[in-house]
Amino acid sequence: MKTQFEEGTTLDRFIYETTRAHPEATGQFSTLLRQISLAARMVSARVNRAGLAGMLGGTGTINVQGEFVQKLDIYANNTFKAALEHPGVCCAVASEEDEEPFYIQSPYRSGRYVFCMDPLDGSSNIDVNATIGTIFGVFRRKSEEGTLATEADVLRPGRDMVAAGYIVYGSGTVLVLSTGDGVHGFTLDPGIGEFFLSHRDIKLAPSAKTYSTNEGYWSLWSQELRDYVTTLKAPGAGYGARYIGSLVADFHRNLIKGGLFFYPATTKNPEGKLRLMYEAFPLAFLVEAAGGAATDGHTPILDLTLTELHQRTPLFIGNRDNVAAATKALSGS
Ligand code: AHG
Ligand code: MN
Ligand code: MN
Repeated sequence: MKTQFEEGTTLDRFIYETTRAHPEATGQFSTLLRQISLAARMVSARVNRAGLAGMLGGTGTINVQGEFVQKLDIYANNTFKAALEHPGVCCAVASEEDEEPFYIQSPYRSGRYVFCMDPLDGSSNIDVNATIGTIFGVFRRKSEEGTLATEADVLRPGRDMVAAGYIVYGSGTVLVLSTGDGVHGFTLDPGIGEFFLSHRDIKLAPSAKTYSTNEGYWSLWSQELRDYVTTLKAPGAGYGARYIGSLVADFHRNLIKGGLFFYPATTKNPEGKLRLMYEAFPLAFLVEAAGGAATDGHTPILDLTLTELHQRTPLFIGNRDNVAAATKALSGS
């Protein structure tokens, strides 16, 4: 029975209605989603006060990515890990900020799910008050519940992902989530600390007239990509350009309004800059659930398999026909 969610549907009610359709559910997934919501509200509160709480700026350290770590990167990382460690529903947390996965062990129960995350995406925008966010994906473990998880639980094919989402901390805080049955958005009412359904069943049109990329790298692009972007800028092509420099914000805009985002391979970064596990996989899961597409310029992102935790990938993502046209152009055909 499809429940029509009327206005005022909280995230908790959505979780209850969704899991009610799965009588075999043990409640672990519901608990996982509730803990994600808790961490999201804590990070949102801190982001919104960053300038007041001495949370702007860097920590002076460099992470495994070779990037300067911002104070909010660490706060978000610790907050999500702490929210997921004790309820006994998670067995491992793989984070952009940690060199190795965090395997949950006694005194806490090693639960059913592997959680991967970019705890704070768009860090370069923190100090200028531009939209940033958290990106996450969920796998079911392969090894036996209750035992210590292993790397084989974490290094997975994209098609194994069972849920994905992100939280954008912008003019409002919006949690976008898919468990495979549609993509839904929930907006935080900070006055009562509750997420309410605000974007039910987000769907992408087949094509759009916006492209989103850092054209500052033009000289580092392949000739095929330059030729393709030149067609978008041709008189009468009718495209607009938007680039925030925060993947999660650029993606959210494109999910709501349509658009093609790409961060391609360059001569400087032949593998691209964005990370497969906790940036490309989750957003590819969401975009496919919304009727869009995502490739690395040749292969669907979700058809790729993770072999290294922080492996990078080129990313072309958005409306189905735009991704197909870009991918075709890159193949030189
Ligand atoms: P993160 O802040 O998690 O390191 O991610 C930053 C990424 C992504 O958010 C954005 O699309 C991209 O870096 C911007 O890179 P450029 O500054 O090279 O355009
Ligand atoms: Mn990121
Ligand atoms: Mn990040």
